[in-house]
Amino acid sequence: GKDGYRHYMEKELHEHPVVIGQTLQRLIDPATRRVVMPDLPFDLAAIPRAVITACGSAFYAGMIGRYWIEQYARLPVDIDVASEMRYRNPPLANGGLGLLISQSGETADTLAALRGMRAAGQHIVSVLNVEQSTMARESDAVLGTVAGPEISVASTKAFTAQLSVLACLTIAFARARAAIDAAQEERMVTSLLDLPSKATEVFERHDEIRRMAAIVAGARDVLYLGRGAMFPVALEGALKLKEITYIHAEAYAAGEMKHGPISLIDSTVPVVATVPSGPLFEKTLSNLQEAKARGGRLLVFTDMAGAPRLREIAECVVAIPTVDEFVAPILQTIPVQILAYEVALIKGTDVDQPRNLAKSVTVE
Ligand code: M6R
Repeated sequence: GKDGYRHYMEKELHEHPVVIGQTLQRLIDPATRRVVMPDLPFDLAAIPRAVITACGSAFYAGMIGRYWIEQYARLPVDIDVASEMRYRNPPLANGGLGLLISQSGETADTLAALRGMRAAGQHIVSVLNVEQSTMARESDAVLGTVAGPEISVASTKAFTAQLSVLACLTIAFARARAAIDAAQEERMVTSLLDLPSKATEVFERHDEIRRMAAIVAGARDVLYLGRGAMFPVALEGALKLKEITYIHAEAYAAGEMKHGPISLIDSTVPVVATVPSGPLFEKTLSNLQEAKARGGRLLVFTDMAGAPRLREIAECVVAIPTVDEFVAPILQTIPVQILAYEVALIKGTDVDQPRNLAKSVTVE
């Protein structure tokens, strides 16, 4: 049941802290504070290239995974949505890794991409929530997300669980490739293990998120922005809003705005940006200033460290705990999903069963 929550989505949003913790517990040894991967039938150090593919939210988790694996493990990663990947027939590296991500393990396009990559000789690793699924049976190894059943059509907790697995895989790759040292690994692991308590603190920002929701609910179009690993967070926010509120939303890499979508901006198109402190902070801030100069209403997700600067220009600021830049996309996803839920409450839509959508898309 819904345990007293109004919707499964609300219940599942509140499960983020527990789910992140449970998923990490499977992959991190608390005594040594090191990532311990399950036995893989190949050597991580010998993988020359990886290809990530998935659909919908799982694809956005994969985009963050690519960002991490390239950044920290220095391994080249290609990524595409499964419906494109399955027909692209890209040249694949000998002994390469095919990395699939799926909550259900039954998504037709992702399964077809898996089969194509397997036929092309790739090692197949799947990040799955349903561990007795078709994709699980057809993979060389399964990395489980310990999210429990996800009932809401809009994915929430499965997404942060997928990111938790991908973060551990990044560390394992980085160590295998000698791209990080022991101190760096410990710093990364510590930042992961701190996440469940930090995620709980996000729910203390509920009132600010509701204020933002009141503005978004009155709009016809919304623009979501983010840079680097925050770009997929923006994509996830826009998808969630579209899915459950039927408000048109688009996500752009913040630096790309001036190449087109800036012409959309006026006081009727709110700009929702995810801008935590870190190396891309100043760059994203100047993108927001450009939007504000065109009359855009700025609604910003940031962290405590970034909040003072953003309060000078934004109409609404939601500041969550400041964490290591590595894990920031995991934490920043939570308020963005809560925003969509709060807008749906205002709109009175069928949150758990949005029109035209199925929980798992088992046809092409
Ligand atoms: O079961 P899967 O993770 O393979 O599903 C992929 C997408 O269909 C799914 O993430 C969809 O985009 C969600 N409704 C997003 O909230």
